[in-house]
Amino acid sequence: MAGDARRLRLGIIGLGQAGAMVLDDIKAAPGLPWTIAAAADPRAHARQRFHEEFGGAVFADAAELCRSPDIDVVYVATPAEMHREHATLAAQGGKHVIVEKPMALSLADAVAIVEAAERGGVRLLAGHTHSFDAPIRKIAELVAGGELGPLRAINCWNFNEFNHRPRQMAELVTTHGPVLNQGPHHVDIVRQIGGGTVRSVRATTIPDAVTGVTGGYVCYLELAERVPVTLVYDGRSLFDTAELFDWVGEGGDDRDRQSAPRRRREFLDLMGRPPAERDAVLAQGKEAGRYGGATAGRLENSWAAKQHPHQPFFGLIVVSCEDATIRQSAGGLYVYDKDGRREIAVAQSQGGRIAELTEMYNAIVTGRAPFHDGAWGLATLEVCFAILESARTGTEITMVHQTTH
Ligand SMILES: NC(=O)c1ccc[n+]([C@@H]2O[C@H](COP(=O)([O-])OP(=O)(O)OC[C@H]3O[C@@H](n4cnc5c(N)ncnc54)[C@H](O)[C@@H]3O)[C@@H](O)[C@H]2O)c1
Repeated sequence: MAGDARRLRLGIIGLGQAGAMVLDDIKAAPGLPWTIAAAADPRAHARQRFHEEFGGAVFADAAELCRSPDIDVVYVATPAEMHREHATLAAQGGKHVIVEKPMALSLADAVAIVEAAERGGVRLLAGHTHSFDAPIRKIAELVAGGELGPLRAINCWNFNEFNHRPRQMAELVTTHGPVLNQGPHHVDIVRQIGGGTVRSVRATTIPDAVTGVTGGYVCYLELAERVPVTLVYDGRSLFDTAELFDWVGEGGDDRDRQSAPRRRREFLDLMGRPPAERDAVLAQGKEAGRYGGATAGRLENSWAAKQHPHQPFFGLIVVSCEDATIRQSAGGLYVYDKDGRREIAVAQSQGGRIAELTEMYNAIVTGRAPFHDGAWGLATLEVCFAILESARTGTEITMVHQTTH
């Protein structure tokens, strides 16, 4: 590792919405051992703004950033179809790599990323997912500790307005709606709580008539020991799971109660307009949320930029053990057992993205692989692709790439 052993220099490829959230979260967490050192993006105004704000080096070409000797870790926050190219470039340049979810758009691409990291002798971390959130890590710790008895089932249900957020239709098509975009969160959460190994996947997807793209999925997984799991996601802007959870939003903020119906109405209106006009409005809406855009830092899942009086919340997650059942409360966890309900506080963290940076930092300074390494990310992606395959074929799919760490 080049540079000061106590500080790591971060380069970001892709100053879009995810890139903006990474930067916002770092800014809101002073004292981190990270220096925001460089960014690459073809959007000139984003590069200029980055240079003005952080004084870091800027590149129009990701390959140039990856050749820079002044970067230790590269955060790949480009669209999913570019993750293989950019993660590989970073590894070839000797940089440790954090790749946004979904890790890649095929298992072959994910394997190529893992192999590139091995060849480059660098650490690879499959970020960012809600499995880094403090309440999820606390549930996993309780289950692993065994004091609540063996794990018996996990049920995760998330209903929201995912499909109708402003973005180009092509992006929604590429990820099969929420399957490859939100599925990695769901699957990672379950694998982290349930020990990592998924045996098999049976799933059906839900069509979204408004967009004509997949709007959700209903999925039955079996973990090791045949522990059953349901994953339900419905991003069609009808019911919002936050209603069951004191209107706490994904980022731990106070959720706008009208956001689902409003998004649906807006999208229905857009779909009635000429395609070119519709696409222009969607492109404008997406651009506004990118780094340098008008609404950057005010997105639902940005941890730092909003008031977040509560813990982050990725839908209803109910974990059944032999002697107790666990779910999130606004500030921590509820545990239900023979004595009724008790609440366990979970300390407010600085958010999932800071947890992932910390995991990478520790991996680099200790020389040990991060928990969410390439093999872990590949296993999560395998389950997400199995959801699609099972929905297509109507069959149960057996997993082969699973790992327990
Ligand atoms: N939008 C979110 O809320 C969010 C949250 C978490 C994760 N993610 C993930 O982050 C990734 C990016 O999503 P996004 O929503 O930020 O997309 P985005 O389109 O807003 O951002 C992508 C950025 O990459 C830049 N880019 C394109 N080609 C490039 C190239 N060749 N070199 C360098 N930069 C290039 C674009 O100009 C853009 O600024 C996806 O994998 C997504 O799943 C997004």
